[in-house]
Amino acid sequence: MIQARTAPEPDIVNLDELEQQAKQRLDQASYDFVAGGAGSELTLRANREAFQKIAIMPRVFAGIEQVDTSANLLGQRLSMPIYVTPMANHGIVHSSAEVGSALGAKKAGTLFVAPTSSTKTIEEVAIAAKDSPRWFQLYFNKDPDVNRRLLHRAEKAGYSAIVLTVDLPVLGIRDRNVRNSLRLPGEPNQPNAPSERYIVATRNLQSLMSGMKTDLSWDDYELTRKNTSLPVLIKGILSRDDAEEAARRKVPAIIVSNHGGRQLDTGFGAIEALRPIVDQVKGRTKVLFDSGIRRGTDVFKALALGALAVGVGRPVLWGLTLYGADGVAAVLEHLKTELVNVMHLAGTTRLNDISSEYIRNS
Ligand SMILES: Cc1cc2nc3c(=O)[nH]c(=O)nc-3n(C[C@H](O)[C@H](O)[C@H](O)COP(=O)(O)O)c2cc1C
Repeated sequence: MIQARTAPEPDIVNLDELEQQAKQRLDQASYDFVAGGAGSELTLRANREAFQKIAIMPRVFAGIEQVDTSANLLGQRLSMPIYVTPMANHGIVHSSAEVGSALGAKKAGTLFVAPTSSTKTIEEVAIAAKDSPRWFQLYFNKDPDVNRRLLHRAEKAGYSAIVLTVDLPVLGIRDRNVRNSLRLPGEPNQPNAPSERYIVATRNLQSLMSGMKTDLSWDDYELTRKNTSLPVLIKGILSRDDAEEAARRKVPAIIVSNHGGRQLDTGFGAIEALRPIVDQVKGRTKVLFDSGIRRGTDVFKALALGALAVGVGRPVLWGLTLYGADGVAAVLEHLKTELVNVMHLAGTTRLNDISSEYIRNS
């Protein structure tokens, strides 16, 4: 774990270089926990490679003076169509943990999604994100009481949506964590856990799963919906059929994601799933995207393929590692600056202008 920032000002060339800088600051196990993927990490790599197969087709003489990246995400105004995706245990890279990340997102004018498996409590994160958009990500527990209490706490603390993650009925096999005998900081005390029945992380994180419901089904989605007045989104959909079912059940929004390549290996780049799903649901449910976003060009491509907004994962933790909350804000601002540049060069003024006309699949 790294405790405090040393560099005065975040200085970002690009997010890949930022990762290398963060790597220098972290011990191997912490770096690997964040950077790694499942199995042979083929899905992890495919997430990046798939973006390279999509080209941007610019238009000229677009007469653009100013580019506007402000977005409306389920009724909330954001400065950019980019948000912080839920990630477990930010405390592994910086002592400010999710509080630092939430402050960073607030500073950048965008949404923070707080994880169930968290170094800080739901309530601490809510205070950091006061007056700023925040959602709560739920890992569905086999004890219905645990779910009810988490949902109640999130609602009381002013979160405005629940993100139910569905691609983790069991934990992916992550060789790096096994090799490093990873133990998460603060264990066995996970502050969102109402009791020790819940999450106790150990060696290869397998017991993280001890409280979770492994036979998750659509009934659990409906149950979640019954237990909260907040909209319940689904994170981790890749197939058209699952997206169709979500649309049929009037799920307000789904997040196309392969969990950043941390779950099922030998999958495809998540961005490849986006267009077929957008075509399938035809606006009946909103579609968001995460997995592999590292550049403004990636954001542009995801929007062109029909995503309303994109989530960013690992780069946020690299920013947090190096500069705390300011680093998180800097990562988000950096992506926004790149997006503004791409939009200008491609000939688009507003997010609504970005369509499939601006991309080509090679
Ligand atoms: C360190 C780490 C922890 C994560 N923990 C969670 C989690 O607790 N819940 C969840 O829904 N997704 C989790 N994810 C997945 C992210 O929400 C997201 O799908 C993924 O990171 C996006 O890919 P990217 O890192 O390439 O941007 C985690 C990802 C990372 C890197």
